[in-house]
Amino acid sequence: MKEILCANFNKLFGSTEGAGFYFSPGRVNLIGEHTDYNGGHVFPCALTLGTYAVAKKRADRNLRLYSMNFDHLGIITASLDDLTYKPEYDWANYPLGVIWALQKKGYRADCGFDLVIYGNIPNGSGLSSSASLEVLTGIIMKDLYGFKDVTMIDLALTGQYSENNFNGCNCGIMDQFAVAMGKKDHAIFLDTSTLQYEYAPVELDDAKIIITNSKVKHSLVDSQYNRRRQECSDALRALQTELDIHSLGDLDIDVFEKFKEVIKDPVEQKRAKHAVYENQRTIEAVTALKTGNITHFGELMNQSHISLRDDYEVSCKEIDILVDLAWSVPGVIGSRITGGGFGGCTVSIVKNEAIITFINTIGPAYKEKVGHEAEFYTAEIGNGAQKLEIL
Ligand code: GLA
Repeated sequence: MKEILCANFNKLFGSTEGAGFYFSPGRVNLIGEHTDYNGGHVFPCALTLGTYAVAKKRADRNLRLYSMNFDHLGIITASLDDLTYKPEYDWANYPLGVIWALQKKGYRADCGFDLVIYGNIPNGSGLSSSASLEVLTGIIMKDLYGFKDVTMIDLALTGQYSENNFNGCNCGIMDQFAVAMGKKDHAIFLDTSTLQYEYAPVELDDAKIIITNSKVKHSLVDSQYNRRRQECSDALRALQTELDIHSLGDLDIDVFEKFKEVIKDPVEQKRAKHAVYENQRTIEAVTALKTGNITHFGELMNQSHISLRDDYEVSCKEIDILVDLAWSVPGVIGSRITGGGFGGCTVSIVKNEAIITFINTIGPAYKEKVGHEAEFYTAEIGNGAQKLEIL
């Protein structure tokens, strides 16, 4: 990876001597979906798939950004003195948003930089290629400009801030947190209301995590994502007329059931139900994993899918086909949609001896029903964003 990035950097920007080489992962969420902006728990892990970069300071205030994934867009040029969202910046709005957000927090770069990136996270797959790029930009800035007191959690929050305020998606903190704080072979049990977290080893003995890409691209900005967030906050406001709570994550199931009728809008009531039940499922799932009860973990994943499909309504036909097919394969412990929804990927826990059958059953059946192929990846859980080398 390094060689090809360096060759591109050389060709476009000149010598890589003194440049930094960086990596930032994608993430997959095991359970706890659409809970992060509701003050609930999430349980994601960083992947070994991710975004690589070579970056080097420039003498002037220009930023020259090039992605090998979007070669047809060429070098995108901006200036530190004019950081605004522009449609023609395309993918580069993510790094530019982070530079802008750091500036707003008082972390000002004294010169620009040249950047070449390459990512192997399938784009629009719900595996957080955008959060990967945001945190990548954060670690590059921290390193190049010596922002020593900026922590990895600060970088996660900065990525979220820029995505909310520069790119226009009101996402929660899960993706950036997982990308910044990931730990090899562990998932992160994060309470999004306090940012307290705990690493839990993902020990599945004789099973693996399989990610299946529906190849239906999701775009959270265009999707109903922001609308779901609004529906939840309206539901919360209704509940607050009776209850002293700060978020839906403050509610357990019994209290929710007792007071749910104060949410008059039936759609909002369903959204809130998902947020409350999914949060409790996530807490239960982590206990199940810690006590080695993978079967129960899988059952909770299945329930999570049903809730996301029926109550939260963020699944789609293609994803439901993948999940239904997965549930029909013996040796599948659990399967559900993962990420923001409206396309993207499913995550399944599959016994080792069933993996080939899983792929051979789902692959052709999906193609026949949907008309295009799905893609399968065995998830490897890796570390968070980091500098790999000085060149
Ligand atoms: C997207 C958002 C996250 C989270 C998930 C759903 O990935 O970026 O903050 O809300 O959707 O769990």
